[in-house]
Amino acid sequence: MRHYNHVIRFAIILTAVLIGFFAVRGFIVPESFGVYGTYMYGYHRGNSDSEEAAQPILYYGSDKCRKCHEKLYEQESQAGHSKIACESCHANWQAHNNNTRNKVLKNGSIEACMQCHKKLSARPAAFPQITDIKQHMDDQEQEFEKGMECLDCHDPHEPL
Ligand code: HEC
Ligand code: HEC
Ligand code: HEC
Ligand code: HEC
Repeated sequence: MRHYNHVIRFAIILTAVLIGFFAVRGFIVPESFGVYGTYMYGYHRGNSDSEEAAQPILYYGSDKCRKCHEKLYEQESQAGHSKIACESCHANWQAHNNNTRNKVLKNGSIEACMQCHKKLSARPAAFPQITDIKQHMDDQEQEFEKGMECLDCHDPHEPL
C-alpha cells in the first residue's frame, strides 16, 4: 500500500501542472489566435489582418500626386527618374495637406542624391553611379567649384 503514495502524489502534481498550464494559456493566448471564423490559420492571429488594414495609409503612390501635379508627373514619367515614386524624395503624402504643404520634404542636397547614386560595389554595374562630385567633374573635364550641387546641372524631375 505504501508504494502507491508517491504515484498518487505524482498524479496530483501532474494534474496541478496541467490545470496551471491551460489556465495560463487561456489567459495569454489572444482570442483569434489560430482561428479566423471557420477557417483555421495555424500559427497566426486572425484579428491582426483587420487591425493592419485599419492602419492609416502613409504612402499613396505617384498617381495621388498626379491629380494636382500633372505637369511634373508627365515630365518625370518621361525622364530618367520615371521608375521612382514622388514620395521617395518628398516623403509620404501625410506630410502634405493644406496646412503643411510648405513642410513637404524637398531635399536636393548632394547627400540626398548620393543616397541612391553613390558608387557602391553592391549596386548593379548598369545603375548610374558616381564616386563623388569632384570625380564626377573630373570625368567630364569640368572645373570643380566649391559649393557646387547636383541641382546646378540636374533637374530632379528630369535628371538628364
Ligand atoms: C489635392 C491636390 C494635391 C495633391 C494630391 C498633391 N499636391 Fe503637392 N501641392 C499642391 C498645391 C496646391 C501645392 C502648392 C502650390 C504649388 O507649389 O504648386 C503643392 C506643393 C507641393 C510641393 C512644393 C512644396 C513647397 O515647399 O514648395 C511639393 C514638393 C509637393 N506638392 C509634392 C507632392 C507630392 C509628392 C504629392 C503626392 C504624394 C502631392 N504633392 C500631392 C497640391 C497637391
Ligand atoms: C529624385 C528626387 C525627386 C523625385 C523622384 C521627385 N521630386 Fe519633386 N522635387 C525634388 C527636389 C530636390 C525639389 C526641389 C527643387 C529645387 O529646390 O529646385 C523638388 C520640387 C518639387 C516641387 C516644387 C515645385 C518645383 O517645381 O520646384 C513639386 C511640386 C514637386 N517636386 C513634385 C513632385 C512630384 C509630383 C513628383 C512625382 C511625379 C516628384 N516631385 C518627384 C526631388 C524629387
Ligand atoms: C530613390 C533613389 C534615387 C534618388 C534619391 C535619386 N535618384 Fe537619380 N536615379 C534613380 C534611378 C532608379 C534611376 C534610373 C536608373 C536606370 O534607369 O537604370 C536614376 C537615374 C538618374 C540619372 C540618369 C538619368 C538618365 O536619363 O540616364 C541621373 C543623372 C540622376 N538619376 C541624378 C539624380 C540626382 C541629381 C538626384 C538628386 C536630386 C537623384 N538622381 C536622386 C534613383 C534615384
Ligand atoms: C556641372 C554640372 C554637373 C553637376 C554639378 C553634376 N552633374 Fe551629374 N552629370 C552632368 C552631365 C553633363 C552628365 C552627363 C554625362 C554623360 O552623359 O556622360 C551627368 C551624368 C550624371 C549621372 C549619370 C552617369 C551615368 O553613368 O550614366 C549621374 C548618376 C549623375 N550625373 C549624378 C550626379 C549627382 C548625384 C550629382 C551631385 C553629387 C551630380 N551629378 C552633379 C553634369 C553635372
